[in-house]
Amino acid sequence: MLRRLHPEQPESFAFTAANQQWAEAQITKYPEGRQASAVIPLLWRAQEQEGWLSRPAIESVADMLGMAYIRVLEVASFYFMFQLQPVGSVAHIQVCGTTSCMICGAEDLIAVCKEKIAAKPHELSADGKLSWEEVECLGSCTNAPMAQIGKDYYEDLTAESFGKIIDDLAAGKVPTPGPQNGRYAAEPLKGLSSLSEHEAGKPKYNASVELATDLGDTVKRIDGTEVPILTPWLGKDGKAAATKAAPKPPKAPAAAKPAVKQVEEARKATEDQPETLTGARDGKPDDLKMLKGVGPKLEETLNELGFFHYDQIAAWTPANVAWVDERLKFKGRIERDGWIEQAGKLAVGEETEFAKRAKEDGTYED
Ligand code: FES
Repeated sequence: MLRRLHPEQPESFAFTAANQQWAEAQITKYPEGRQASAVIPLLWRAQEQEGWLSRPAIESVADMLGMAYIRVLEVASFYFMFQLQPVGSVAHIQVCGTTSCMICGAEDLIAVCKEKIAAKPHELSADGKLSWEEVECLGSCTNAPMAQIGKDYYEDLTAESFGKIIDDLAAGKVPTPGPQNGRYAAEPLKGLSSLSEHEAGKPKYNASVELATDLGDTVKRIDGTEVPILTPWLGKDGKAAATKAAPKPPKAPAAAKPAVKQVEEARKATEDQPETLTGARDGKPDDLKMLKGVGPKLEETLNELGFFHYDQIAAWTPANVAWVDERLKFKGRIERDGWIEQAGKLAVGEETEFAKRAKEDGTYED
């Protein structure tokens, strides 16, 4: 199946304030220069919020992580858990069609989806509330056939019980997840043959179902307000983490600093600043994306700072590097990716491995 961006896209995407705070806290899990590691959690959160991943959502996540759009699209289009088209406003139903479930009746469940939701997978129901698709094994084979709805598993399904769940969802009810045939968890169908002493006094539901029922509205879209954002790696709460992760505002001298110190800092900043230009010479900038580690976004930032040519970058001193680093979103890239050495070669017309590859396949790297 081809996985590509949907032809109809919303104008924009924005995390809710709470989800934005959550996302910024996630980014702080990773060391400087490795923020791209947060790409899956952020994409997932965007999908939880909206139901699917639109192009603006993908680009917004890319901007937050300083990644090229294509890199984030690659992740979103690779993993089937990401929906690249609108899904039902109430629920998107994923029916397992792999061996155990197929043997136990998955085809009957798919027939129910076709009858009650839409004839084809990924099509919205007439009222826009539901959509469905067939997926590969979801690891609940002992309770086959099963379907995932939102974050929960509905197991030991029959066409009847599954049809009832779909009707309930369409009617605004929240069905109870877990086994639908009276089974507690994944014990033998004929009942326990061992550990039966634990039968007495067990909770009403197994742990997963208990958690889902405790949460209440299991098919509600996440808006970030559900649970507090914990950031134990900072020893602080999410608020503190978000403050730390937020982009740094331009530095202004603190009012309380002694005037001499302010003057000294300003002098040092001026001294360390590399030579910049107000525009490209003869209006012809070099393609800075030929530098490994520079994508369209970083190139834009470099241009805004006054850098348009390889020879400008090749001439940076360590103090200049520190000055530029201070003004880029993520520190350490210049040295990590060897911009100065690359720029030196490109400035005199030599080729680098990366530039050669980028020209051939047209991809860049942020
Ligand atoms: S085969 Fe359906 S969950 Fe494994």
